[in-house]
Amino acid sequence: MSLSQEERVMGYDAYITELCAKEDEALRGARKRAEKAGLPAIAVPASEGKLLHVLVRSINAKRILEIGTLGGYSAIWMARALPSDGKLISLELEQRHAEIATENLKQAGLSDRVEIRVGAALDSLATMRTANEPLFDVVFIDADKSGYLDYLKAALPLLRVGGLMLADNTLSDIVLDRTNHERTKPYCAAAAAHPALLSVITPALRDDHIDGLMISLKISDAQG
Ligand SMILES: C[S@@+](CC[C@H](N)C(=O)[O-])C[C@H]1O[C@@H](n2cnc3c(N)ncnc32)[C@H](O)[C@@H]1O
Repeated sequence: MSLSQEERVMGYDAYITELCAKEDEALRGARKRAEKAGLPAIAVPASEGKLLHVLVRSINAKRILEIGTLGGYSAIWMARALPSDGKLISLELEQRHAEIATENLKQAGLSDRVEIRVGAALDSLATMRTANEPLFDVVFIDADKSGYLDYLKAALPLLRVGGLMLADNTLSDIVLDRTNHERTKPYCAAAAAHPALLSVITPALRDDHIDGLMISLKISDAQG
């Protein structure tokens, strides 16, 4: 069978989605509502949503912090892995995105488990640290790519030892250029070298191309 690289990636993703990550009405509706409202189509694909779901479940997470809500699609996948008394707090800059996400989470029956905080994530994170917000079991970074390193510094103190720091969009062609230090590469370098983190990047399929999710287990309170 002779397939182009694009066809191969699309086929792999379709296979994973069909086998393990079929969308139900709430997930399909969330995607459609976001599209209708003109939000960019940059939510994680279903296959990665399921990966996030499994990671959350695997450590019995009760508290999740998401940075970058968009229309709430990844929030639905993760919040569904929480127990009924669990909580996901999602930080979003755009009021309009937060409104669509609020509706999507309501339609998914998750309003009681998810809280969206509108504002620049770094400001929200600073407020959370000052307020002594209880620690999180999972942090998922998926906002502006240039901010990832700052989000790591600001969010790591809010993550419990044994918790997972997850970062989307961490594998693209720029990793092949050793002279390029843009986008999420500074984050990846810092997380990989951090003494408190045990890290790996797992490839994640995106329709026709490959991206990645960096998974870092917090193993101590060591300072970077
Ligand atoms: C890639 S989308 C998030 C996708 C979402 N996690 C999903 O998979 O369904 C990135 C989101 O981050 C938001 N964002 C960008 N800069 C931000 C900032 N400084 N603080 C908070 N949110 C920000 C954008 O408005 C956008 O909604």
